[in-house]
Amino acid sequence: MPSEKLVQGLIDQMNFEFESANVYLAMAAYCQAENWDGFANFFLVQAEEERFHGMKIFNYLNDIGERAIISGYRSPKNDFQSILDCFESAFQHEKEVTKRIYALSDLALDERDHGTIHFLKWYIDEQIEEEALFDNIIVKLKRINNDTNGMFLLDREFAARTFTPEEQ
Ligand SMILES: [Fe+2]
Repeated sequence: MPSEKLVQGLIDQMNFEFESANVYLAMAAYCQAENWDGFANFFLVQAEEERFHGMKIFNYLNDIGERAIISGYRSPKNDFQSILDCFESAFQHEKEVTKRIYALSDLALDERDHGTIHFLKWYIDEQIEEEALFDNIIVKLKRINNDTNGMFLLDREFAARTFTPEEQ
C-alpha cells in the first residue's frame, strides 16, 4: 500500500497533467489566432494526450482503493511571441513534468511500492519521447528560420497529427 505521501504525490501529478492540458490549449489558441491551423492541431492533440495522462492516474488511484481529488488549475501562459516561442515553452514545460515524474518515482522506490514503480515506468518512457519530440521540432523551426515555405510545410505536416490513445 502506498503511503499517504505517495498517494498525495500521485494526486498532485494527476492534477498537473490536467493543468498541462490547459498549457497546450493556450498554445493551440495562439496558433489558431495566428492562422496556423496545423500547429494549432498539434497542440490540441497534445492537450488531449495530457488529459489522457491525467486520466491514467485517475484510474490508477481508483484501482489501488484511493480517491482522485481534483484541484483547481493555475492559469497557463497565454502570450507568445512566435510559433518557436510556443515550442520552446512546451519543451520547458515537459522538462518540469519529467522532474516531477522522477521525484514521484524516487518516492515509490523509497517505499518499495513495486506496483507504483511499475505504473510510473510508463510515464518515464513517455517523458523521454515528449522531450525528444519537442527538441526535434525546435531544431526544425530554427533551421526553417521563419522561411514561409518551410513553415507552411511543417504546418501541413502537423495538421495530420491525431490522438491515438492505444499507442500511448
Ligand atoms: Fe503528460
